Amino acid sequence: MTVHFKQDKPEQSNRLDGMKQGVLGKGVSRLEGLAKVTGTAPYAAEYPVEGCAEGVLVTSTITRGEVVGLDKDAVLAMPGVLAVIDDSRLTTRPAQGTANEAPKQGPKTISYWGQPIALVVAETFEQARDAAKHLTVKYREEEGAPVDPQAVETEEKDGTVRQGDLAHAMAEAAHSVDVTFTTRGHASAAMEPHAAIAEWDGDKLTVHASLQMLNYNISELADALGVEEDDVRLISRFVGGGFGSKLGISEEVVAAAIAAKDLARPVRVVMSRQQVFQCIMRRSETTQRLRLAADEDGKLTGFGHHAVVSNLPGEVFAEPVLQSSHFLYSGENRELMLEVARIHRMTAGSVRAPGEAVGMPALEGAMDVLAEKVGIDPVELRLKNIPEQDPEEGLPFSSNKLAECLKQGAEAFGWDSGPRKPRQHQDGEWWVGTGMASAARAHSISEARAKVTLKSDGTALVETDMTDIGTGTYTILAQIAGEMLGLEPNKVLVELGDTRHPRGSGSGGSWGAASTGSAVYVACKAIREDLAARVGVEETALELSQGKTSAGKSLIDLLGGEDIAREGHYEPGDIKDDYTAAGFGAFFAQVRVNRYTGETRVDRMLGAFGFGRVLNHKTARSQCLGGITWSIGVALTEALEFDPRDGHLVNCDLAEYHVPVNRDVPELDVLMVEERDAAASPIQAKGIGELGMCGGAAAIANAIYNASGARIFDYPMTPDHVLKAMPD
Ligand code: MOS
Repeated sequence: MTVHFKQDKPEQSNRLDGMKQGVLGKGVSRLEGLAKVTGTAPYAAEYPVEGCAEGVLVTSTITRGEVVGLDKDAVLAMPGVLAVIDDSRLTTRPAQGTANEAPKQGPKTISYWGQPIALVVAETFEQARDAAKHLTVKYREEEGAPVDPQAVETEEKDGTVRQGDLAHAMAEAAHSVDVTFTTRGHASAAMEPHAAIAEWDGDKLTVHASLQMLNYNISELADALGVEEDDVRLISRFVGGGFGSKLGISEEVVAAAIAAKDLARPVRVVMSRQQVFQCIMRRSETTQRLRLAADEDGKLTGFGHHAVVSNLPGEVFAEPVLQSSHFLYSGENRELMLEVARIHRMTAGSVRAPGEAVGMPALEGAMDVLAEKVGIDPVELRLKNIPEQDPEEGLPFSSNKLAECLKQGAEAFGWDSGPRKPRQHQDGEWWVGTGMASAARAHSISEARAKVTLKSDGTALVETDMTDIGTGTYTILAQIAGEMLGLEPNKVLVELGDTRHPRGSGSGGSWGAASTGSAVYVACKAIREDLAARVGVEETALELSQGKTSAGKSLIDLLGGEDIAREGHYEPGDIKDDYTAAGFGAFFAQVRVNRYTGETRVDRMLGAFGFGRVLNHKTARSQCLGGITWSIGVALTEALEFDPRDGHLVNCDLAEYHVPVNRDVPELDVLMVEERDAAASPIQAKGIGELGMCGGAAAIANAIYNASGARIFDYPMTPDHVLKAMPD
């Protein structure tokens, strides 16, 4: 039986706080943790499949043009080689996992260097790899494909905001800032490479793959292959990180499915690390002009944010740089505009907190410049400019903990309040200083379904095609069901990542916990109604803990040998339109900058975050720690390097693309400013996966300035930038 709940109003009843099990919010360790650390949790490529052939993708060595011929015969004669697949469906690339889009690429058309064009299948991986290297491809090359975003015309995206008169506000302002920041491209850099094993049983296809959004991925794959969704089963039980790169299906999945059909045997395709970097997706580089106008006291009168990003011609996605700029600060005269440069680098897509991950570091850098001009504490500047309501839409915030995060964060960090002057502290050859920034990340929530079965033996089963991409989904769903049904989480079996289960929300945009968690909540509430009727009380009066009612009656007795199963179907209704919802926070950082080499070391960093109900203290904190770590990457180390001649990605492995490593990451503190956001979701939770990296880079940049006097406008702030900007 399916129970549908569409949320049109805030959930004020606080039901989850009235439950008796007392397990929600607790720092429960990951239920699948033991399987993962002992290596027994199988990832996509690891499923033992009898008679599996191995496929290796061949990728383009030109930037734009067409494949006109493949010398298949030569490689088919090589040892163990079974097939060379160059079916045009292989290059189907539904963008972003957000829609069942038609194939992007025409047959064999090449739009970027590194684009998959064929699959070589052999008995062993080594044979396939060798043959793939020897495959001769004939191209018709179109010269002069633009690869430099600075060198092309730009297109304006929809959604430009013009309110009041920003130019006038800038001219009249007591203090104004007009600065331009740049950020570089980023890679998702998930540990597990993209991989798929496809197997057909007649017309029925089963694919083990590493994906974030099975609810969309199944339609994408069915569309790409031209088959019915009902004939496709996708399985992604364990995912070694996605960070956006696995939101949509990519070529390894389609290629494995086509090859398995052609060869009538299972086929595995695992991308090499280089292929993951070069053909999956990139975060666009950005150029961002910030204009801030303020009165004598630092109250904003004007706010301008203009960003230029890039993508391939025809791609819908544009890094949503302005997402939180629309509502974070006041300022009645506003101008916000996003433009896209069309270039032939690999597809730009969602990478770790798309939008705010790079938009917030620019905005918060500009705010630091303004604080200095006004001559006030940068924390004070933010506090002065928190709007009562969304300054563009006029909507109320579902909740907004920015002020609390700023104050509590400053207190916990030991922030020295007051106006600031750079170069005040020296420690040997190091300048030492501190900086801060706000955090913001728009809250997304989506429709989700989950089936919950309270079993006659007093345990529960949760089933949904939702994924756990390392975030803790298995555990928090067990906690929600456990809290509602009066069970310890280890009495709740959670089955995820299989399209045989009801469609969850998938993992992306930090919406997983609030969306699929709400579906579990809706299902459990319906089960509680059934139980309450058996006991003869109202559902709201039913108290369950440790498998018993408050009167001591056991669930097993109440069930009388039968299961109760309900499918919860959660849908966000008017709450989506009636509120502006976001997670908020504040970052504080202490850094040291070497006066001779320009090297920056982060000494310590603290993030304070308000994101609704905390579902699991431990996994939420881990998400925040991960986010702050990524923000160190944005600030100091991460940058994709493209060859200016053909636009191909040069630093395509984890040795050359620098994500922060242990030695780069100091003691990190996380402060969770607990709240209940009634308009965010029925379980009063918002997302936390990405908030931790939305602005943190600016806290480091601002600390570099405070320490050394080097004001830098280009991320990442590598030693060469720092040295160039350092006074003397
Ligand atoms: Mo996320 S970058 O929306 O998976």
